[in-house]
Amino acid sequence: MNSEELKKRIEKRTASVAIVGVGYVGLPLAVEFARSGLKVTGLDVDEGKIRMLRDGKSYIQDVGSETVRELLEKGTFIPETDFRALKNQDVVIICVPTPLRKTREPDLSYIISASEAVAANISSETLVVLESTTYPGTTREILAPELEKQGFRPGEDVFLAFSPERVDPGNKQYGIRNTPKVVGGMDEKSLKMAKELYSAAADEVVCTGSCEEAEMVKLLENTFRAVNIGLINEMAQLCNRFGLDIWRIVKAASSKPFGFMPFYPGPGIGGHCLPTDPQFLAWKAKSSRFYPHFIDHAEEVNRAMPAFVVSRISAALNRRKKSVNGSKILIMGVSYKKNIGDTREAPAYDIAPQLEELGACLNYCDPYVEEFDGIKRVDHKKIDYSEYDCVVIVTDHDDFDYKDMAEKANIIFDCRGVTLELKGKACVERL
Ligand SMILES: NC(=O)c1ccc[n+]([C@@H]2O[C@H](COP(=O)([O-])OP(=O)(O)OC[C@H]3O[C@@H](n4cnc5c(N)ncnc54)[C@H](O)[C@@H]3O)[C@@H](O)[C@H]2O)c1
Repeated sequence: MNSEELKKRIEKRTASVAIVGVGYVGLPLAVEFARSGLKVTGLDVDEGKIRMLRDGKSYIQDVGSETVRELLEKGTFIPETDFRALKNQDVVIICVPTPLRKTREPDLSYIISASEAVAANISSETLVVLESTTYPGTTREILAPELEKQGFRPGEDVFLAFSPERVDPGNKQYGIRNTPKVVGGMDEKSLKMAKELYSAAADEVVCTGSCEEAEMVKLLENTFRAVNIGLINEMAQLCNRFGLDIWRIVKAASSKPFGFMPFYPGPGIGGHCLPTDPQFLAWKAKSSRFYPHFIDHAEEVNRAMPAFVVSRISAALNRRKKSVNGSKILIMGVSYKKNIGDTREAPAYDIAPQLEELGACLNYCDPYVEEFDGIKRVDHKKIDYSEYDCVVIVTDHDDFDYKDMAEKANIIFDCRGVTLELKGKACVERL
């Protein structure tokens, strides 16, 4: 097969696609491609995940098990652990994790091992796309050399592109289809093929001038969010010092129809992206002797938020002649954001041990998270809020009955601004 044939197969939706890493990003993408008619192989080193998929069970909230079963029956989705399945695939998309090491340096080991496995198993005339979030230069400096080691010549007999994943787990309004997809290619041919490929899964494809540009787009987007969250978290602390309510200030400022975009304070930032992605950029910048002050300062402020929350809870109890020591505290919501069960880097992991260290007796409530840090879980439909000295809204799931909480709780400490319009007997304090 030559590159023209590959292009035609992609255009006609007869191409075969392998997704390497079927986690939060890879599985929804595999499903979207399979739905568009492409034959998709989902490859993962986690045998447990592949077993579940083969049994027709999804472990990702945004992908229903019935969808997995339907695609399995149609034969358009094949879960697999054997990398030999990469032979004769037209397209291979890598969606493996990109965490930080304990030293806060990028850990590219997953990209490296996936790239080695891909390079060792693909045939020529394959389009390889990296989707994992990473610093500018990774596709060219890490992925391309792995392909070259196996004798491939990127741009000639294999095609290489980067396309950042922008999925927002749990977002009901924007999914893969209606979120524009950004792509960058190592060369013109690779870009054209990647553009054609993604137009099968997304309504709009935005082309950039290179893989590096596409890599940087993702980091700019998430650094923009992390820095603005850092700013509003700092403003929340400042407003607290002034005796002002940041939530009211943001609400009123949001009435300006231009030049202001609302960001909201919170107990810290979590998830796989916001705490990590700006650090990838900062690390790369520093290795070029450039010091990105905004990123570092936002990181400092955001990381200090759990301790600020604990000090505010302590002050709230103190005002009512109580101490954290011996108080019964209920943590509402432990996932990193509302209506999902992902607890990666969740601020609750910092808040809970700090409260326990001060002697609090903790329970938690989260309909999406079955186990959390060895703390006793309570059912959100059977809570007696009056049992607790303080109820802390860490993550504002829609399933919670805030009216009942406002009626019965002694003290509510609200990290998410959901109590702004709420009336009841409880003493309410907000971040
Ligand atoms: N989760 C999000 O909301 C989100 C959003 C945008 C971008 N991203 C980025 O997408 C990438 C993947 O993130 P995720 O949240 O899907 O991670 P994840 O941990 O949910 O999934 C990654 C999967 O890759 C598998 N894996 C690891 N090494 C492998 C290998 N060598 N070969 C095959 N499979 C392998 C893991 O077993 C896992 O199932 C990361 O770079 C992340 O920053 C994530």
